[in-house]
Amino acid sequence: MIKIAPSILSADFAQLGQEISIVEAAGADWIHVDVMDGHFVPNITLGPPIVSAIKPHTSLPLDVHLMIDKPEQYIADFAKAGADMITVHAEACIHLHRVIHLIKEHGVQAGIAINPGTSAAVIQEVLEDIDMVLIMTVNPGFGGQAFIPRTVQKVRQVRQWLNEASLFDVHIEVDGGITSETAPLVVEAGADVLVAGSAVFGQKDREAAIQAIRSSVQN
Ligand code: DX5
Ligand code: ZN
Repeated sequence: MIKIAPSILSADFAQLGQEISIVEAAGADWIHVDVMDGHFVPNITLGPPIVSAIKPHTSLPLDVHLMIDKPEQYIADFAKAGADMITVHAEACIHLHRVIHLIKEHGVQAGIAINPGTSAAVIQEVLEDIDMVLIMTVNPGFGGQAFIPRTVQKVRQVRQWLNEASLFDVHIEVDGGITSETAPLVVEAGADVLVAGSAVFGQKDREAAIQAIRSSVQN
């Protein structure tokens, strides 16, 4: 089953509760929350208070993507705020294995993200410890950027490693430039969670937007 995770980065921040209710009713599977610190990426978004504010507005899992330096310092705060899944960037973690276990100690699912310029090899040693690999299909920092085609082979490589290790429950999420045109490419390569920001919140009819992505990956 392919999951669609609308990214609230492209939503109306003054109406977040309503925006989330709309995409939940429209068939979204997870809510993707982009946290940026102005250091790891050249943009600033939101922190734990916003996560706790939106939590009562949805029964969908909150998929929190931390694009921040020193993510280990904020795991407890995001877990307490209601994150169901916390993804940290491999590039931001010196002690990747330790950070993964810190996330799990808080009863939250753990994901590792890698930028387009990072080799998938950095996650190979921790595949058995994680719930999700997030393969960035744009350089993180902004919504509405163009999909980078070269990243598809990384999806295929990670899916092969997971299959070889019989890790069939580990998700592969893709994030950036996902539309009904690019979704079939990444799903064919092995992705099963599709983040979509502008392709959902940039459209007036969110239900039709989610449906268009979903039908592009169903035969
Ligand atoms: C990018 C964020 C994405 C972003 C995707 O740094 O991690 O989640 O919202 O936006 P679109 O789908 O518009 O590329
Ligand atoms: Zn994201």
